[in-house]
Amino acid sequence: MSKTTLSETLIKARTYQFEHKNDVPMEQKPKFHVTPPMGWSNDPNGFSQYQGKYHLFFQHHMYSTGFGPMHWGHAVSDDLIRWEYIDTALAPDTPADFSGIFSGSGLEVDGKHVLMYTGVQLHVKDEEARRMLERPEHDFTVFMQLRKENRIFFQQVQCMAEGDGRDYVKFPENPVISTEMLPEGMDPENFRDPKIWRGEDGVFYAVIGSCDMEHDAKLLLYSSEDLHSWKFVSIFHDNKKELGTMWECPDFFFLDGKAVIMASPEQMKGDNVHFPNRSSSACAIGSVCEETHTFVKESLSLIDHGVDYYAPTSMEDAKGRRIQIGWMGNFQNRITPESYQWIGGMTLPRELHIRDGKLYQLPVEELSNYYANKVEKTISVCSEEMQIEGISGRYLDMTVRVKGGDYTSCFVSVLGDQDGKAVITCDREKKLLSMDRSSCHFVNDHEPVTYAPLEEVDGELELRIVIDNAYVEVYLNQGAQVMSNLVFKAEGGLDQISFGAEGSCEMTIVKHDLVMK
Ligand code: FRU
Repeated sequence: MSKTTLSETLIKARTYQFEHKNDVPMEQKPKFHVTPPMGWSNDPNGFSQYQGKYHLFFQHHMYSTGFGPMHWGHAVSDDLIRWEYIDTALAPDTPADFSGIFSGSGLEVDGKHVLMYTGVQLHVKDEEARRMLERPEHDFTVFMQLRKENRIFFQQVQCMAEGDGRDYVKFPENPVISTEMLPEGMDPENFRDPKIWRGEDGVFYAVIGSCDMEHDAKLLLYSSEDLHSWKFVSIFHDNKKELGTMWECPDFFFLDGKAVIMASPEQMKGDNVHFPNRSSSACAIGSVCEETHTFVKESLSLIDHGVDYYAPTSMEDAKGRRIQIGWMGNFQNRITPESYQWIGGMTLPRELHIRDGKLYQLPVEELSNYYANKVEKTISVCSEEMQIEGISGRYLDMTVRVKGGDYTSCFVSVLGDQDGKAVITCDREKKLLSMDRSSCHFVNDHEPVTYAPLEEVDGELELRIVIDNAYVEVYLNQGAQVMSNLVFKAEGGLDQISFGAEGSCEMTIVKHDLVMK
């Protein structure tokens, strides 16, 4: 593809990206989690394999650490762990998407890399409102205020592009799905995040987030024979006000004999254990009714109990694995230090399974190719908090098996120093897993403690804790529950790990450092 197809907006983004690629000190960054080279990032997009390589795009506003007109940043990898950042793939530069390239998905089709995304068009009704939005960055409050006053309105439409894994050309007929193709009663301002796949019948399908005028989620199914001409099929899933409002970033796939929807409902109401009181991501397991093209739900659960988790998306790779990656951040609890010139990043890629009707998630096995310095210890733990020689650090993958004794709760604290630590507690009596970062004193941390249900398996618990600088992911009992939270440390902060219990128990600890090759 020749460079002449690139717009000015895209060339500007790529040039900026090139000129600023070394601005961020590497000590601030995780090594194994994808983060933007600079500026703002949110949702993972277009997660797919193309010509054998893994491709991951992400919502990106490179010019500042605020939410601004979205582009698609782009990273590629051979093994899902070591990523190379390449040129920004998509910029808001056509009449269909001039205000932003919102989330979407990707697929290899007949040798081409096909991307489907939401084009955003912001229509401004008066000059003063236009001036207020003219700044290259503006936060949501400006949008929300102007919207409330009915001085701006959005349109969200679905667009496509195809390319060679580096440069992409948008379809000239974009949008391929306009707001006129919405079923009656849907809100044209909330129609986004298409997830495309090819059915066994060879037909392309896309599930897209939308809501009615009361903001209640409807996931819409569209189909196409040729990627260019699309038609509405059905309301694939109707939330009927069960969980949150609009469901963002829907995903759909079959796994282990079940049909699965994953989506990110806004404004959930919950008990803060099974579901939180904020936006987060949920997984619905069930089947599909072939006659009506609708999803039949059997269960609904939270995907990740951490506060820094949202908008996951998945793909099936050439090895037949269903691999999912989420944004390890959110819009509501921004704790990244103000001085950082970057914000946002992804979870580790996780392999998914359904067992006994429940979702299980674990980091992809490729992570173990980066293991070094194994330490294995079995210790008796009682009320005294203890540290173990050889077990500390900021880049590691550690599994702790807990059994025996009369303990009522036990804990592992990580990233500890004089300023605080993150404490991961298994409360056997309350049947709660928690992670408490309140001693870390983060500015704006409105949710320093997160919770998940805790169940023992044959009288034992298994905690797997992956630490990658500020990125802490906790997997309970082979990924039956997951909790992802950010824990930023001051430069020079210590990386102490300690163990303790109320009552007594035995802990078998296996720790591997994670070393990037
Ligand atoms: C979810 C989301 C998507 C949207 C994108 C915009 O985090 O709000 O619905 O496409 O982020 O960046």
